[in-house]
Amino acid sequence: MKPTRSMLFAVCPMLVLGFLYYSSGKLHLHVWGQKPHKHKEATVTEAGNAKTEPEVETVISVGRIVGSVYDKLGFLLKLDGKLPPELEYKYGNLSEGVCKPGYVDAKMTSIFPKFVKPVSMFLDQNFKRLKNINNYLPPFGFRTQENIIELILATTKNYGLNPELDSLACKRCVIVGNGGILSNKSLGSRIDEYDIIVRLNEAPVEGFVKDVGSKTTMRITYPEGAIQNPLRYEKDSLFVFSAFKPQDFRWLRQMVFKDNLRGVDGFWKSVAHQVPREPSEMRILNPYFIQEAAFRFIGLPHNNGLMGKGNIPTLGAVAITMALHNCDEVAVAGFGYDMSTPHAPLHYYEKVKMSAIKESWTHNISKEKEFLRKLVKAGVITDLTNGI
Ligand SMILES: *[C@@H]1O[C@H](CO)[C@@H](O)[C@H](O)[C@H]1NC(C)=O
Ligand SMILES: *[C@@H]1O[C@H](CO)[C@@H](O)[C@H](O)[C@H]1NC(C)=O
Ligand SMILES: *[C@@H]1O[C@H](CO)[C@@H](O)[C@H](O)[C@H]1NC(C)=O
Repeated sequence: MKPTRSMLFAVCPMLVLGFLYYSSGKLHLHVWGQKPHKHKEATVTEAGNAKTEPEVETVISVGRIVGSVYDKLGFLLKLDGKLPPELEYKYGNLSEGVCKPGYVDAKMTSIFPKFVKPVSMFLDQNFKRLKNINNYLPPFGFRTQENIIELILATTKNYGLNPELDSLACKRCVIVGNGGILSNKSLGSRIDEYDIIVRLNEAPVEGFVKDVGSKTTMRITYPEGAIQNPLRYEKDSLFVFSAFKPQDFRWLRQMVFKDNLRGVDGFWKSVAHQVPREPSEMRILNPYFIQEAAFRFIGLPHNNGLMGKGNIPTLGAVAITMALHNCDEVAVAGFGYDMSTPHAPLHYYEKVKMSAIKESWTHNISKEKEFLRKLVKAGVITDLTNGI
């Protein structure tokens, strides 16, 4: 290289740096010199966003105390099951039991105007473009787990339900919770009528068909909740993985690639060593539903977007949130803990008592129930067991 040219190469970056330095100095001078007060205010709001949010909300609601029709989270205060006139016109003539296209979206938007419907159920290969979640660590997003997710998705190769369900013009979904309240209600055949039947963790079907139904479209689970006995996995259901901790993705990779389970540190109880499912039958639930349930719907502490005391929604609430975005009608069964009956069974399939739930550090059952009550009261979802 000629000396003059290399000289130029050296000078150019210096010029650029010099210019940057100069302009940033100007910027600072401008800000500090002319509007120091404004700048300070902005910094405080940005940095302390999570902490100051509740106060800001209070100020706002005090400001419009007379006319306020929405609660702090943005839900309509006066909820009833009536259809708004435009929906009455749209659905009023449909006979009982016919699926109403777009019903959940319309009803949800009418009580929670901030609701935005299109959020896909599962992560697909474009997942990195999902703005709301690429900045959050698990469970509220997938930051730091991008490579492992890419590897898994390249192997599962399927990102929807199945061609038949995906093409339904109107989907009726039921989320079957694990509550003891399902016992002895003979709701099984009613549950089996839905197009999409969602079950959670290890909740069994065999032996409980009369009460909980026999069909399973998908089973949403995290490592500690997954069925451990390979023989108990039902055929034809999707294994849907919901991550709560970074190591959960490592576990999923081992399950997808049928590796021997290694590194079980960090799980709070024993986990399944194998999942007898083909990769094409495995999905990753969009973590947006955990984030939205926690911060927008239930109003749990933001904690700078990190997992903290009492800010993780239960898997049931996450599943309902998913259904609000992806189903035309939503029903739930087996939800609701009645704290006034501590001796009632917590789950329909085991003897653990209701009182056991009080230990929970991660969930806030009472706040979560407030959210679910809004949905039921407004008729957004139907509660088949009347426990909410
Ligand atoms: C429903 O029925 C009413 C009364 O028969 C009629 O005026 C209205 O146009 C119908 N709505 C739809 C969407 O068909
Ligand atoms: C359900 O019915 C069975 C048999 O009648 C009874 O043994 C059981 O206690 C009942 N369970 C609940 C939760 O009521
Ligand atoms: C649940 O939320 C309520 C109201 O914000 C709060 O008082 C309570 O401490 C929370 N419980 C847990 C377990 O975080």
